[in-house]
Amino acid sequence: MRRALVWGCSMLGLALSVACQGRGPTAADRASARPTLRAKPANLRVLPKDISLSELDGLMHQYGAGLGVKCGYCHAQNPQTGQLDYASDENPRKQTARVMIAMLREINDKYLAQLGDPRYPVLVTCGNCHQGQTNPPDFEPGGAAVSER
Ligand code: HEC
Ligand code: HEC
Repeated sequence: MRRALVWGCSMLGLALSVACQGRGPTAADRASARPTLRAKPANLRVLPKDISLSELDGLMHQYGAGLGVKCGYCHAQNPQTGQLDYASDENPRKQTARVMIAMLREINDKYLAQLGDPRYPVLVTCGNCHQGQTNPPDFEPGGAAVSER
């Protein structure tokens, strides 16, 4: 509850400043507001099991940005604590994401790697198809890329 209140206050900002006055976030609120990965992952099936926490965190933020979503889009909430349970497989989107991660690995490491001399540090990411959306947008031929000249 307290977390939701702090979040609501900071999101609504000035509009709610009167209601929110006199109650700054506690250290615990701040710690839980932004998830930081501390625990060793317990349920990795496609990513390397020895991945570092900072690398895992970086990938998760990249997935979120690629699809334009927050962590809770793929990760199930623990009904008791209200916190996201990252190791849980309850959310079916997590399984879809696993298929996508494995697909990307094949595309990048098996196929595109054959070309050699890569021009991009990461050849294909989620964002290449998803473009910041959960459903990859249709390609519209004759769009901005085609000049009328
Ligand atoms: C697009 C879906 C998606 C999004 C968004 C996402 N994750 Fe994940 N996450 C996954 C998948 C899939 C796995 C499991 C990978 C595997 O099986 O190797 C995973 C695994 C994890 C794990 C390891 C859990 C364990 O114990 O095995 C953590 C921690 C985690 N994610 C944190 C986050 C955080 C924090 C965010 C938001 C910044 C986030 N994730 C956003 C799909 C997602
Ligand atoms: C080659 C293009 C492509 C790439 C790259 C790609 N996706 Fe997808 N993704 C799709 C398509 C197409 C769909 C829709 C499938 C359908 O019709 O249900 C989809 C659907 C999804 C969905 C289900 C969305 C929903 O709510 O129904 C998730 C989750 C997802 N992708 C995660 C990822 C993640 C995470 C990555 C990067 C690791 C990724 N995708 C990379 C093409 C791609």
